[in-house]
Amino acid sequence: MEDGQAQKRKSRQRRKQCIVLIFVAVVLVVLAIVLWLVLRTSEHEEFKRVFTSRCDAYGGGYDCAKTWSAFEQAYVGKDPCFVPPESYQALIEAAPIKPDCNRMMFWSKTKDVVHDFTSKKECFITMEDTFVGSVLDGLTWCSKVGSKETFTSGCPGWSDCVNNTVRSFWSKASASFAQVACGKVSVMLNGSIATPFSPASIFASIEVKNFNPDNMKSLEVVLVTQDKEVSNCANPSLQDLQKELAQGISYSCSEVPESQIEECASDPEKPCGSCW
Ligand code: APR
Repeated sequence: MEDGQAQKRKSRQRRKQCIVLIFVAVVLVVLAIVLWLVLRTSEHEEFKRVFTSRCDAYGGGYDCAKTWSAFEQAYVGKDPCFVPPESYQALIEAAPIKPDCNRMMFWSKTKDVVHDFTSKKECFITMEDTFVGSVLDGLTWCSKVGSKETFTSGCPGWSDCVNNTVRSFWSKASASFAQVACGKVSVMLNGSIATPFSPASIFASIEVKNFNPDNMKSLEVVLVTQDKEVSNCANPSLQDLQKELAQGISYSCSEVPESQIEECASDPEKPCGSCW
């Protein structure tokens, strides 16, 4: 009899111990979740930190708090597929793109070669060297209806919808960059593809259409070629480009091997502008 009661007592004790252990585990998990929620930096805060640190690093006296709030009002709380380019008007007004006559360089399908060149030789500035361009280059951002968050992944891709958060920013910024283009303007196009001046590109569909002949004297095409040249200056798409230019803007085209551009960029003896 006594043995049986002792066993019952023991099993009751074990059950109690089990319940206590489960309770402690649950409390610990809840505490961990609460701590994580309190301490984690939201994606929005992290994106704001990147924006602000790039803004500070750029210098030039830009008001980073003001430009951030002009930027976030463009997309926060909105459907990421319904953010038209005009949404970024306030940002462009807060940080207008400044003209830099005779040094403005456009590009299409030549991002790496052009930025490698401009990072080594300070002869030209691209959209990505302007304040807004440099702060947002390479970043992805979007929000959603009713949200105060910024997401940096899961955003619609470039061609998922036309008015997506990121594409609309580049459309708006590129239009502004082109509107102020002045003096002798250059563009690096890709001679390794069949259509160096592609109608779907930002350069063709937005920038060329925003060139202002009152400000601009000429457009020089630098057609970057590789060993296997696919297109040359006689390419039909370049004839289209010539036709699209407003009267008063003169046109020229040079075929330049990519290796020549790279060598020249790395040669400190070569003066600015003598690479082609
Ligand atoms: N997916 C994601 N990003 C894309 C895509 C795509 N399918 N297509 C273009 N982009 C973005 C990328 O950031 C890419 O580096 O646009 C950039 C330029 O694309 P290109 O087709 O190479 O060139 P283009 O559309 O003509 O835009 C370049 O716009 O940024 C301005 O002033 C700049 O003259 C330049 C022009």
